[in-house]
Amino acid sequence: MQDSLIIFDTTLRDGEQSPGASMTRDEKVRIAKALERLNVDVIEAGFPIASIGDFEAVQAVAKIVKDSTVCALARALDKDIDRAGEALKPANSARIHTFIATSPIHMQMKLKMQPDEVIEHAVRAVKRARRYTDNVEFSPEDAGRSEEDFLCRILEAVIKAGATTLNIPDTVGYSLPQQFGTTIANLIARIPNSDQAIFSVHCHNDLGLAVANSLAAVMNGARQVECTINGLGERAGNASLEEVVMAVRTRQDIFNCNTRLDTREILTCSKLVSSITGFPVQPNKAIVGANAFAHESGIHQDGVLKNRETYEIMRAEDVGWAANSMVLGKHSGRNAFKSRMMALGFEFQTEKILNETFFRFKQLADKKHDIFDEDLQALISEVSVQMETDYIELVALKVCAETGEIPKSQVTLRVNNQELTGCAEGSGVVDASLKAIENIVQTNATLALYSVNNITCGTDAQGEVTVRLEKSSRIVNGLGADTDIVIASAKAYINAVNKLQAPDKCHHPQIANV
Ligand code: KIV
Ligand code: ZN
Repeated sequence: MQDSLIIFDTTLRDGEQSPGASMTRDEKVRIAKALERLNVDVIEAGFPIASIGDFEAVQAVAKIVKDSTVCALARALDKDIDRAGEALKPANSARIHTFIATSPIHMQMKLKMQPDEVIEHAVRAVKRARRYTDNVEFSPEDAGRSEEDFLCRILEAVIKAGATTLNIPDTVGYSLPQQFGTTIANLIARIPNSDQAIFSVHCHNDLGLAVANSLAAVMNGARQVECTINGLGERAGNASLEEVVMAVRTRQDIFNCNTRLDTREILTCSKLVSSITGFPVQPNKAIVGANAFAHESGIHQDGVLKNRETYEIMRAEDVGWAANSMVLGKHSGRNAFKSRMMALGFEFQTEKILNETFFRFKQLADKKHDIFDEDLQALISEVSVQMETDYIELVALKVCAETGEIPKSQVTLRVNNQELTGCAEGSGVVDASLKAIENIVQTNATLALYSVNNITCGTDAQGEVTVRLEKSSRIVNGLGADTDIVIASAKAYINAVNKLQAPDKCHHPQIANV
């Protein structure tokens, strides 16, 4: 019988550690629901001790997710573990993931602990986590640079203490595939009680080898891979979920295991994560890049037309590309709209929200003939963030652009039920509009990112704009979508301002390492 390969997604935890990728609680819930539809086995929802926002996000994900295990991260400290256990209380199936560093450099310089003390902390942490759940994962941080003998000692001890998953992180992305695969094989062979736990890997991409290292580990006995959508994560990121999953699925001649994922949901997840974090997906990115299945050269096109397998090793529809066909239009009714939105994971909490969202859909359908799933996702983003925070709204926007003249913009906003108008000039109409808004709201925040993506094809497509604002070490991402790029930009800026003015829910205070 074939083994199953457990997919542990850490987009909401390690992914969120990418500078600028912070997510609100509701954004995390939306991504968690998409991951659940993808059939991910474990969702690491956050690091509850890090902030109140993180605690609440883990709790909210634990409440809503039913089919995946929800996991929370904790250092090997009582207070971290208790906080994780508390946040996970509502979960159907909960896991606590505790970690402590094991490499000589981390133990000496960071922890200032002797190896035996590190083992004591690890054992104590695992035992404490077992008070909350019998599903406990332990990670020796920086295992990629740890001594194999020491890893064997600590891992044997934590299995005895009750750890059920042993995760081997290549924290700084230092390992090479053959060597990392051998380490996994050696650990499994040398640890006397290794059959009582599942071996997992967590690879970072500093040398561009996170996926290769993860796959080498799977070939050598690892049965859980930790990964993120689009490879998001600290520094150069983590192993990309879509690449790991599709490599294992495509090369069943090599791997004697497979995942239980519904791979047709991959593209939706990728677009959702990209739109919420404002991290675009490069066109040539494997699996989810716009060009991943596009054949440009005549020879390739000719071959694919004769037999697609001449140049295609996977089917685009198996990862969700074909699902992007047109779904709704101007004449679609409320029911069709509601059921498509619900299929995309949006829940209408009240009739009023349904009416308001349907009204916006009709407005969009008047401007844009064909409405695709991506347009609906953008609508969800817009409505969701407004349900969370909005107290500043766009009322009107007027721009003036003429060859040889300085572009100007006049913007009217509703701020706490009062209409205020601001004007500005700029290097273009987008610049002028954002300056006009800033003249009214006066955040004095730094614009850390402005990016535009077309959601679908054609000149009538909606543009989705991400604006990242930074103020006093707080970073927020604002989103806006419209068929008019200037309006999309204004909406994105206003959305970011609203998030900046809302209570700080996603800021991560600096926490000391154990
Ligand atoms: O990279 C790392 O070591 C981690 C651990 C917390 C597993 O993210
Ligand atoms: Zn990591």
